[in-house]
Amino acid sequence: MRTMPFLDLPIVAAPMAGATTPRLVAAVSNAGGLGSLPVGYETPAAIHALIAQVRGLTARPFAVNLFVGTSVAVTAAELERAHERLRPYRAALGIPHPAQPPANALNFDEQFAAVLQARPAVFSFTFGIPEPWVLDACRSAGIFTIGTAKTADEAVALERVGVDAVCVQGYEAGGHHGSFLAPIEDSSIGTLALVPLAVDAVSIPVLAAGGIGDGRAVAAVLALGATAAQVGSALLLCEESGASPVYRRVLASDAVKRTTLTRVFSGRHARGVRNRFIDEMSGAAEIAPYPHQHWLTRDVRSAATAQGRPEYLSMWAGQAVALAKPLPAAAIVAALVADARAAAAAASGILVRAGQRA
Ligand SMILES: Cc1cc2nc3c(=O)[nH]c(=O)nc-3n(C[C@H](O)[C@H](O)[C@H](O)COP(=O)(O)O)c2cc1C
Repeated sequence: MRTMPFLDLPIVAAPMAGATTPRLVAAVSNAGGLGSLPVGYETPAAIHALIAQVRGLTARPFAVNLFVGTSVAVTAAELERAHERLRPYRAALGIPHPAQPPANALNFDEQFAAVLQARPAVFSFTFGIPEPWVLDACRSAGIFTIGTAKTADEAVALERVGVDAVCVQGYEAGGHHGSFLAPIEDSSIGTLALVPLAVDAVSIPVLAAGGIGDGRAVAAVLALGATAAQVGSALLLCEESGASPVYRRVLASDAVKRTTLTRVFSGRHARGVRNRFIDEMSGAAEIAPYPHQHWLTRDVRSAATAQGRPEYLSMWAGQAVALAKPLPAAAIVAALVADARAAAAAASGILVRAGQRA
């Protein structure tokens, strides 16, 4: 039962909006894992174009990933306050403060329609449970679905609505955290605890995500009962990664020793490298709920990237990102598997020797 037919190797590349490129998706799928194309911030036209680019580079299956869940209502006054709070950062970067708060330009139904039309082998999602018609449409089209859970309860909720597999995301994970049933404080479970809890709670395949930095952690999550490891940060420095030069520079520095969960950039909790913007904005009352804060801070983040100013940039990364290597993605996937075999053999050796002494 715990199988995923399209996986030759038990490795899924996490969808990483802002870092994954079509080349990275194709490289991981070509290497025998499953590449994942994040399109949560893309228009339907861009979704079609990106999927076509991946298809130009691989004939193998890959996943396409969207954000689901309802957008929290926000008043014009709340938006204006959150927008105004960003004025000093725009001034520091020398960019104009728009007269109107930048608004969310995307619509899930339209994004999903584009995904459905393209019919990828796998549709993965985070932040909640899609409406039943979305899962029905995937089922009819033969698209395998993967939902994201931060607790065993969320894994059960996803299984109940007929999702084909669940990716459980531990506290260590880089990027946005996809909890949807309980507040983040009650959904912050480490991968080592979360995987067996989820594996015992559901009978669909469980993918493990969060802090899987090398083959040792791959072996660990497989031993915990996961069907595959979903790795994000381990691929951030790979040759095919779209991480900007300033982001790469910070990821390769000692700054990665301090990652934190923050909602200052998007209105939802995400793990990234701590910086001045996070320190100054944390606890501020003027942070709009997701996704509004994402759109409000977008020009600040873009300007910070262009100007090489990491102090104002969201730099999503997990707690094990210091293990990331600047190699081709295929080499990273191969090393994850080879090192997992070695780690499993070493663990097995310890257990066998212990048995002989007993
Ligand atoms: C830069 C970055 C962007 C991310 N974007 C997405 C995304 O678009 N969709 C999603 O489901 N998860 C996203 N995630 C979370 C990953 O799916 C995954 O849970 C996480 O990378 C696993 O932890 P790790 O980074 O420690 O390997 C992102 C993670 C990172 C690091």
